[in-house]
Amino acid sequence: EDYALGGYPDFMRKEMAEQPDAVRRALRGRLDERFATAHLGGLNMDARELRGISKVVFLGCGSAYYAGQLGAQLVEELARIPATAEPASEFRYRNPVVDPDALYVAISQSGETLDTLAAVQELQRKGGRVIGAVNVVGSAIARECGAGVFLHAGPEVSVASTKALTNMTVSFAMLALLLGRVRDLSAASGEHIVNGLRALPDAIDAVLAADEDIADIASQFAKARSMFFIGRVRAWPVAREGAQKLKEISYIHAEAYQGSELKHGPLALIDPEMPSIVLVPGDELLAKNITTIEQIKARGGPVIAVTNTDLPDGLADAVIRVPAVCAELDPIILTIPLQLLAYHTAMALGRDVDKPRNLAKSVTVE
Ligand code: G6P
Repeated sequence: EDYALGGYPDFMRKEMAEQPDAVRRALRGRLDERFATAHLGGLNMDARELRGISKVVFLGCGSAYYAGQLGAQLVEELARIPATAEPASEFRYRNPVVDPDALYVAISQSGETLDTLAAVQELQRKGGRVIGAVNVVGSAIARECGAGVFLHAGPEVSVASTKALTNMTVSFAMLALLLGRVRDLSAASGEHIVNGLRALPDAIDAVLAADEDIADIASQFAKARSMFFIGRVRAWPVAREGAQKLKEISYIHAEAYQGSELKHGPLALIDPEMPSIVLVPGDELLAKNITTIEQIKARGGPVIAVTNTDLPDGLADAVIRVPAVCAELDPIILTIPLQLLAYHTAMALGRDVDKPRNLAKSVTVE
């Protein structure tokens, strides 16, 4: 194990640090500058088949489900195909309507999660077209699907998924680009996404370099009993994943909300003991997110803003600044500081980050 850790204190730390290279591997040979698109040969689908897809449904458990939610947002935005994500663990219990023209994407780092495998089998029984988004080659879900996109994240040991999750989102950005370019996404918009994808590894490196600042912020808030993670539209899956990570490895309760929903209930919980992590991408919702922060501050709630743009001085109690790539892909970058925040909070509390209590890396039983 010492050898495998390669000098890192734990696997989560190592796997977070490996993300820039993992993303480079996911992109290798798949981006096409000339036609401003992506090639995903493992899908085994030609342009006509891709054009015939009526909707995209992402299925996964835990972090893979949140990656799917981010994927659905990307597919709707870039390809204008209706897309949703749902927990694979529920799928077979609710007698789902299976659409023969839909593309179902089964997402799994391990490729062995029983709930996700069972969803794949239910889909196949009902004539659904299902592909895998899997990290482990030769795993049960990869074999069952027979087609899909491998994540190329390399081995992931830590229970909390970091580099595999990042490569899921990168793969879905490529899928969305490909689906967009056989429909009505312009060459110029395609080029913008290709350039954004190419910029991701360096941007992730820049977030990782802010490690000490994030550790500092984490130690200030590690005594909290509960935290809110606030994000809207593109940043909504990021907030959900951030809350999940914090719960998994620090055992602090966390809940994700859209900023727009705060006034419909959760504002009642805001007080000086309840910190909110607010995601503030520099997109068209910037002003709305600033208002959200003001609403929380007015009720005495501490705010950590995670942003890729300049915010008014003194708006938040702490600011985590990350680079901007492009509005569509920025959610991928915003997930990284939340990993570090969860990691350092867990470390400040003396938790075993690689092996959180009651959890397994891959759940192969019902
Ligand atoms: C378990 C792990 C989670 C993981 C989920 C899906 O619940 O604790 O961290 O996200 O399984 O795993 P998979 O291998 O299918 O991506």
